[in-house]
Amino acid sequence: MIDARKTLSLSVQFNEIRTNNESEMTEMPAMHAEIILAIFTSFCLLSSAEISEYVIKSERLPPDLNFMPTLGNGHMGYTVFGDAIFMNGVYNGEGGNSRRARIPNWLNLSVAKIQYEEWELAIIPDMFELQLQDGYFRWLFAYEANGLQVKLEQRTYPHRYYNRALIYELFVQCTGAIDPLLIKLNRKPGGKSEAFDFSPLDSANGTVSFKMLQGVTRRLEHRNFQTEPRKIFVAFSDDWKNEHTIELSAGQEELYYRYVITADEREEIARQEMAEVIKLTPEILFQRHALEWRAFWSDFNIQIDGNLELSHIVNAGIFYLANSLPSLNTSHLNGAYFGLSPTGLGRGQLDADYEGHNFWDTEIWMLPAITQFSTRWAEQLLQYRFEHLRGARYNAKQTGYQGARYPWESAYTGTEVINPCCLEIAAEEIHISPDIVLALQHHYAVTHSKEWLCRVAWPIAKEVAEFLVSRVRDDGRKFHLEGVMGPDEDHSNVTDNVYTNVVVKQSLEFASFARSMCVLTDGRPDVWLDIARRMQILYDEKLDYHPQHLGYKRGEIVKQADVVLLGYPIQFAMSNVTRRNDLLNYEAVIRESGPAMSWSMFAINFLDVKDIEKANLYFQRGYKDYIRPEFKVWSENKIGFQGSANFLTGIGGFLQTIVNGYGSVRVQLDGNQSVMVIQKTYCLPTSKGFTINGIKFAQSRFSLKIRANGTTTLSCVEKGDLNIELLVDTQKYAVQEHFSIDLTGSTASLRTI
Ligand SMILES: *[C@@H]1O[C@H](CO)[C@@H](O)[C@H](O)[C@H]1NC(C)=O
Ligand SMILES: *[C@@H]1O[C@H](CO)[C@@H](O)[C@H](O)[C@H]1NC(C)=O
Ligand SMILES: *[C@@H]1O[C@H](CO)[C@@H](O)[C@H](O)[C@H]1NC(C)=O
Ligand SMILES: *[C@@H]1O[C@H](CO)[C@@H](O)[C@H](O)[C@H]1NC(C)=O
Ligand SMILES: *[C@@H]1O[C@H](CO)[C@@H](O)[C@H](O)[C@H]1NC(C)=O
Ligand SMILES: *[C@@H]1O[C@H](CO)[C@@H](O)[C@H](O)[C@H]1NC(C)=O
Ligand SMILES: *[C@@H]1O[C@H](CO)[C@@H](O)[C@H](O)[C@H]1NC(C)=O
Repeated sequence: MIDARKTLSLSVQFNEIRTNNESEMTEMPAMHAEIILAIFTSFCLLSSAEISEYVIKSERLPPDLNFMPTLGNGHMGYTVFGDAIFMNGVYNGEGGNSRRARIPNWLNLSVAKIQYEEWELAIIPDMFELQLQDGYFRWLFAYEANGLQVKLEQRTYPHRYYNRALIYELFVQCTGAIDPLLIKLNRKPGGKSEAFDFSPLDSANGTVSFKMLQGVTRRLEHRNFQTEPRKIFVAFSDDWKNEHTIELSAGQEELYYRYVITADEREEIARQEMAEVIKLTPEILFQRHALEWRAFWSDFNIQIDGNLELSHIVNAGIFYLANSLPSLNTSHLNGAYFGLSPTGLGRGQLDADYEGHNFWDTEIWMLPAITQFSTRWAEQLLQYRFEHLRGARYNAKQTGYQGARYPWESAYTGTEVINPCCLEIAAEEIHISPDIVLALQHHYAVTHSKEWLCRVAWPIAKEVAEFLVSRVRDDGRKFHLEGVMGPDEDHSNVTDNVYTNVVVKQSLEFASFARSMCVLTDGRPDVWLDIARRMQILYDEKLDYHPQHLGYKRGEIVKQADVVLLGYPIQFAMSNVTRRNDLLNYEAVIRESGPAMSWSMFAINFLDVKDIEKANLYFQRGYKDYIRPEFKVWSENKIGFQGSANFLTGIGGFLQTIVNGYGSVRVQLDGNQSVMVIQKTYCLPTSKGFTINGIKFAQSRFSLKIRANGTTTLSCVEKGDLNIELLVDTQKYAVQEHFSIDLTGSTASLRTI
């Protein structure tokens, strides 16, 4: 770490590096005072406030660079040292071949060599660091011999505030050089883009000038829904190809160099963002980025006592999920957000990256955690579904049904873009539509915003209900669903998959509820509730458990958690004995190569039936083998099995075990009121306690502190406008800001009134 930057005379270097840009020269002098001031105040502050739970260091890179951290800001994303930059909502390819359109990673800069007098020094960094709190990645190098001392720090980050900008920065510190030092930079963007045709744009525009490219995608996703290719504009702060040399003159002790790329679908935004960013001092540029990340962490965080490794995993997990989500405070307004795919915004070119598509992963696995990060993010994810109702309607019609049927995979247009490998899945995994409806229900329960319920949730719930009405079969007594596949993708074309039927039942109930809240009822019999009531839910009385589908035999291997989801997250009412039997039956048959989320769900559900030992076992099984050690990047499958990298779905399941399992936070609707129940908390295994700060409920924020001995404290850290009543055992309290209560051994319910 280059602490001596505190005393830098950065202004001088900053000026020197930009000497090829005349207009810059006239702007810089006015900024000197500000820069020097900033050096003495903020730089110390920024570099000294490092908290070890938020810094992940490694002396080595992962052997497979696919497990480098993926960074993003909701507008763009990339994997450090990878070959691609991706932009939110920009896809190329027809139908199932639509995938995130790869922009070559023109930000992949690094110092390759230093030349001094007659020798050359190859740069092999001695430390790589993921800085979670301030949201950047850096790598360091130090050299010392014969009185010459050189230190290099390189940073890369997608800017959180100037979110059209991706930043590379180099800080050099040098003492004892009697001759000039040449610093040789390489840029390795990877191969030509498969997705775009790039062409240069006229670079001069008034006072600012920089190189710009226009990129146009090659193929439309769906002709009925997309008439024009996607167009993007990319600006470069410097115009050099793949090699560049910077000189440190003899006696010069500090140097700062910055390389910036901005990109947007509107040319003027890409230009303006570049013009703004390049004239900022290093401190201001960095501060505006770090400020946003700090604001995020102060709003939501999980503190774990006595287990630094677990803290790193939790914090990195939160960071990797959050960095694909839109910046909430930006220099230019954001466009529409196109959703989260299983490996995030920084990946999506490959099949292994699920082509950057949206799946049920978003609503069922990631959203419960994301809602706790920020209800605004949750709303934007659901907004994506709302804005693509048209595609879902089209999908229903194409497949012979009514209403809106959400595609198993969706990208830009919202029509079905299932990978051609797996058409059967799209045909059968109809549970994605009710999954989305249950996510709407959950979001309403958390925010209790009736305005949103009627504007966004109701129209979706209504059209999905119409689809379901057209999809079920009535045998006069019960309603059935044939030709479906549940979450267990090892069993196709089954009848009455229990998970599917339960989510259908519950989404029809919610649709009916939303109608009662949002429109005048006409007194006609409620078809939706009738179906919900008579939906076939298979249950084996003798063995007191739920067979996964009609004809399922105990002992048949399944891919992943399916029936066990009924307890948590679905909160389907059943006796604890049945629930336990389901757990015991299915834990024995989940295949070893299944994804991490299965184990997370076993952990939560075993906690609910008070089998703590098993829960602890599954909690650890749910993450340990899925994380690469260097930067805590998740893999879809255990080490030794093929699987996607930066697997956000797994992180979502894991974070739920902490908040909704050990923290036991559950939110539901009771009549038209929202209720948050904290039933029984447990200390996380291998920790000395933990605190979840920033739990969202009914426009207020809470914190929940659980100590090793089980002592549990609930506090209200920020009170919104809605009134909330707390019931602990039989005692009622009105919740106010800073209200705090010991819940040890009791069940607490918070309820809107
Ligand atoms: C990105 O740069 C690093 C450092 O030079 C290099 O190891 C890596 O291979 C580059 N990535 C690509 C896709 O070329
Ligand atoms: C030139 O840049 C200015 C300011 O950044 C912007 O307002 C204008 O639209 C740009 N003109 C063109 C032709 O891009
Ligand atoms: C948004 O970012 C700007 C620039 O860093 C900052 O001045 C402002 O306070 C931020 N606004 C909010 C609401 O955080
Ligand atoms: C699904 O199973 C039914 C009944 O067993 C059969 O008639 C139908 O052809 C199957 N459908 C597919 C797509 O395999
Ligand atoms: C299951 O057990 C929990 C905890 O003991 C209890 O609160 C709950 O009422 C039980 N549920 C049922 C349906 O028996
Ligand atoms: C909410 O529920 C209560 C009691 O069930 C009922 O009296 C009230 O009318 C409901 N309000 C709305 C807006 O549906
Ligand atoms: C539990 O531990 C906390 C400190 O970690 C302590 O204040 C509290 O008294 C303990 N409670 C019991 C019941 O031991």
